[in-house]
Amino acid sequence: MYKYSVSILGTGFIGLCSAACFADKDIKVLASTHNEKKANMINEGKAPFYEADLQEMMDDIKANKPELLQCLLDPVKAILETDISMITQGTPMREDKSINLGYIESTAREIGEALKHKDSYHLVVVRSTVVPGTARNLVGKIITEVSAKLPGKDFGLCMQPEFLAEGRSIEDTLKPDRIVIGEFDEQSGATLQEFYEYFYGDHLENCPILRMNLESAELVKYGNNCLLSTKISYANEFANFAQLVPNVDIVQVMKGVGLDYRINDRFLGAGVGFGGSCFHKDVNAIKAWSKSKGYPSRLLEAVLDINDDQAIRIVDMAEELAGDLKNKRITLLGLAFKPGTDDMRQAASIRVVKELKKRGIEDIVGYDPKANETAEIELGSKIAYAGSIEQALKDSECALLITEWDEFKNLKPDDFTKHMRTPNLVDGRRLYDYDLFIKSIPFRAIGRINLE
Ligand code: UDX
Repeated sequence: MYKYSVSILGTGFIGLCSAACFADKDIKVLASTHNEKKANMINEGKAPFYEADLQEMMDDIKANKPELLQCLLDPVKAILETDISMITQGTPMREDKSINLGYIESTAREIGEALKHKDSYHLVVVRSTVVPGTARNLVGKIITEVSAKLPGKDFGLCMQPEFLAEGRSIEDTLKPDRIVIGEFDEQSGATLQEFYEYFYGDHLENCPILRMNLESAELVKYGNNCLLSTKISYANEFANFAQLVPNVDIVQVMKGVGLDYRINDRFLGAGVGFGGSCFHKDVNAIKAWSKSKGYPSRLLEAVLDINDDQAIRIVDMAEELAGDLKNKRITLLGLAFKPGTDDMRQAASIRVVKELKKRGIEDIVGYDPKANETAEIELGSKIAYAGSIEQALKDSECALLITEWDEFKNLKPDDFTKHMRTPNLVDGRRLYDYDLFIKSIPFRAIGRINLE
């Protein structure tokens, strides 16, 4: 017998990383998905997507304790055979940019179906990012409707947001800064807290557990992602101010701002803008939600506008540097939304390509160390794809640095001179040493202009 058994309903980043970390610490996990191919892969010990350290962890579980991590195609069975169920389904953006709670709703029905046949107490934990009111008014109510069981009596209900960033999901799962527990009632929260005391042990000395109601916990997650997005747009707004004055450098400005103990310099990196699976989705979701309640958010509207307009700024800078870009070859260095991933969701490269096309610039070559294939799914024949930096720069008249991969960090001014027809370079991520590059090749960088 295991002290804890958990069903993980949804096998994306949060679901599978939690499942692997729990199993690694001797908790019995039954994951569930409706995707047969994914389930087979997980059962064979193979991660269905790339995430740092995940495969190694799954290899170890497969070799030493395979019974602790299994993936079923039947969520009802997974729920019935465990004591805690975590909903880790996606909450994608609808066409109108509001949140799509379809997967949460169908999972709540499956939990209801299972709880109909269960007499002992079961804890349900929403881990997906959901707008305030969802855990109580959608998940809780559907479970009661289907099973006739009551929250706070027959089953516990919590909302525990996660704060994983891609590429760090395992590390973030194992070493969170804090654990936020939204609870329907005291027993629900206490049951989840006990589970995490068991799972985290000593780590809790440096990681507070915050208990609050369901809706507050739901809003914490949006508060987090919206503030991080706001910090980036704030840095970009100041980068645009910096470009109004010769020799002001946004990197130094934000370093100065960030050293204030009330602020910190993380997520103050100006550049071509944020992307990824969460920031646009979550900022839009809470913005649509607040508007539907009669409070349209001016702040979040500006955060998204400033971000997406950075694509226009970088193309403006390229044209200021290299002249009219029509009939010239342009190179995009990096396509993924951030280094270390092949994820193209909401990547700045997509907005940059759109802006280039809008200006009639057709000859665009992109290169990404990991994301060429996923970029092709997203961008198709709008651009050509190079297999190396050299090939990407060949015959090019202007290069735009979009994603700050290590492979690009090592490039010297000479590399651009050697491979390009004319070595114009715009640094969209402040990757390069400004003083070195400005004296070596025609160069511009977000958030700084030189003396002229
Ligand atoms: C983010 C949050 O960090 C995480 O807590 C949440 O759970 C999911 O969303 P993720 O999207 O994986 O994680 O990536 P993150 O590292 O936060 O970067 C997001 C985007 O912001 C990237 O496009 C990155 O390039 C950009 N960014 C980040 C900046 O433009 N400037 C910065 O200073 C930091």
